Amino acid sequence: MLKILDAISAEVKNAFEAAGYRAELGNVTVSNRPDLCEYQCNGAMAGAKEYHKAPIMIAQDVAAKLTDSKAFASVEAVAPGFLNLKVNEAFLIDYIKEMAADEKFGFAVAQPKKVIIDYGGPNVAKPLHVGHLRSAVIGEAIKRICRYAGDTVTGDIHMGDWGLQMGLIIYEFSLRHPDLLYFDDTYTGEYPAEAPFTISELEEIYPTASGKSKEDEDYKAKAMEATFKLQSGVRGYRALWKHIINVSVTDLKKNYSKLNVDFDLWNGESDAHDEIPGMVEEMKKGGYAYLSNGALVVDVKEETDKKEIPPCMILKSDGASLYNTTDLATIRIRMREYQPDELIYVVDKRQELYFEQVFRCARKTGLVKPETELKFLGFGTMNGKDGKPFKTRQGGVMRLEYLLQEINDQMYEKIAENETMSEEEAKKTAAQVALSAIKYGDLSNQASKDYIFDIERFTSFEGDTGPYLLYTMVRIKSILKKYEEAGGKVSEATLASIDNASGKDLLKSLTGFNTMMEAAYSELAPHKICAYIYDLANALNHFYHETKILTESDPAKQSAYIALLKFTLTIMETCIDLLGFEAPEKM
Ligand code: ARG
Repeated sequence: MLKILDAISAEVKNAFEAAGYRAELGNVTVSNRPDLCEYQCNGAMAGAKEYHKAPIMIAQDVAAKLTDSKAFASVEAVAPGFLNLKVNEAFLIDYIKEMAADEKFGFAVAQPKKVIIDYGGPNVAKPLHVGHLRSAVIGEAIKRICRYAGDTVTGDIHMGDWGLQMGLIIYEFSLRHPDLLYFDDTYTGEYPAEAPFTISELEEIYPTASGKSKEDEDYKAKAMEATFKLQSGVRGYRALWKHIINVSVTDLKKNYSKLNVDFDLWNGESDAHDEIPGMVEEMKKGGYAYLSNGALVVDVKEETDKKEIPPCMILKSDGASLYNTTDLATIRIRMREYQPDELIYVVDKRQELYFEQVFRCARKTGLVKPETELKFLGFGTMNGKDGKPFKTRQGGVMRLEYLLQEINDQMYEKIAENETMSEEEAKKTAAQVALSAIKYGDLSNQASKDYIFDIERFTSFEGDTGPYLLYTMVRIKSILKKYEEAGGKVSEATLASIDNASGKDLLKSLTGFNTMMEAAYSELAPHKICAYIYDLANALNHFYHETKILTESDPAKQSAYIALLKFTLTIMETCIDLLGFEAPEKM
């Protein structure tokens, strides 16, 4: 189906043609003077030269052809040649009925793609901190938006599980427990099935080891040696490493599920390890990779570069692989196993240059096809109220788990004031509302921008917040429920004339859904969904305050109101599901 502006434009284009002008001049836009009209067409001005006529005359000719149009409540030709338009409510209602009959409310993408989204990117054995929140929240929304558009999407967590941090943990562990089987080179039997540590021990080991390695050169060398032994396949090291992964992944799954984030693939950097030798061979054979000071590199600079783009290092002089080696090898695997049309990376924007190198290298060396799209969606930093990266009150790095808990607790206090709920229900509701606060607080900003994580503002039930949206939805649900309890039947099909100004605004807002979705999808911009539902919620609340709904005595009128509420709820539910949260029944 046409987008609303195209549907309105179609009417005006017909009129241009009927009056003897080029149809293309009839393009309609949303009015920039909402006090005068709802939509406008400036085509008469554009046509003046071509037809050697004053714009106002053209506008008048066209307006004359529109007098009988069922689409418009009023059409005015005004100096110097604008067409000021107000649509008919019936036109909007017909449009919405067509939307409601369509599975995706008129949103359609011509060419669905095969997409892989690389997001999350946690590092095993290190607790998730707030920095990981953005990748998870934004990536999850992007995944859902692409899926809704009809793309075949695979989300891959791409864990950091292969670098020096693994060697650090293993080496520190070997100092603490030198007698364990894992460190006995002569042992050839099976290793225990149970991990020799818990998640909390693991989380303590990493920072300790990392601290020591910064102060002690010898310690660092030993950790590097352990990394090398792990990567080259020493049995005991591999077995211990598997335990680290298992314990970590269990914990990560728990935390991501609290965020309503889930991945199709739980692959890590390590999964690219076996791919590296073949890839390196090919890069050498193709003449792309060469030795520079002992290291193997690929040049990626281009003539048009304004700044220096350093070569992409594939192997260090000791033969060890790097972060980008695993990223490149991962691309090679993904291309072979999934043949994606597009790869999207949702990563901190400080890695932009890095990804520029990786993408160029992948293109140059033929890891991807010329038409494969490689997109870097870099996000900004989540700052505290002081404008500096978000910290705990003590100034430390904020663990995601604690942050979630804090917001949950605050929400619980607010929700528990509502004494109609059992404790269990209140807990569940608090978690839902808290998640909306966090996710909406993040997603309502353009991803590339830094933003201030303001718990107080995000958790407010008023203003541009997640809880405000949920509150609006709960309000609708409660009206619908009361209507049903009084014997009414809730259906979108009974939508009919609403006949009041705030109702018309709400109708107009609803017609914008598919237009907005197209932009949110093509620009990978969840913040557009946020801006849209905030406007929609405002329109709904405005309508609610100005209209007696449950006490309306004309049943036909009342069921039209109910249908309008129901459809608004459907659109809001669709939107928040794309953003990755849901609304409770009460709050
Ligand atoms: N683990 C990385 C980090 O914490 C992020 C991974 C991003 N994804 C990727 N394919 N490199 O910085």
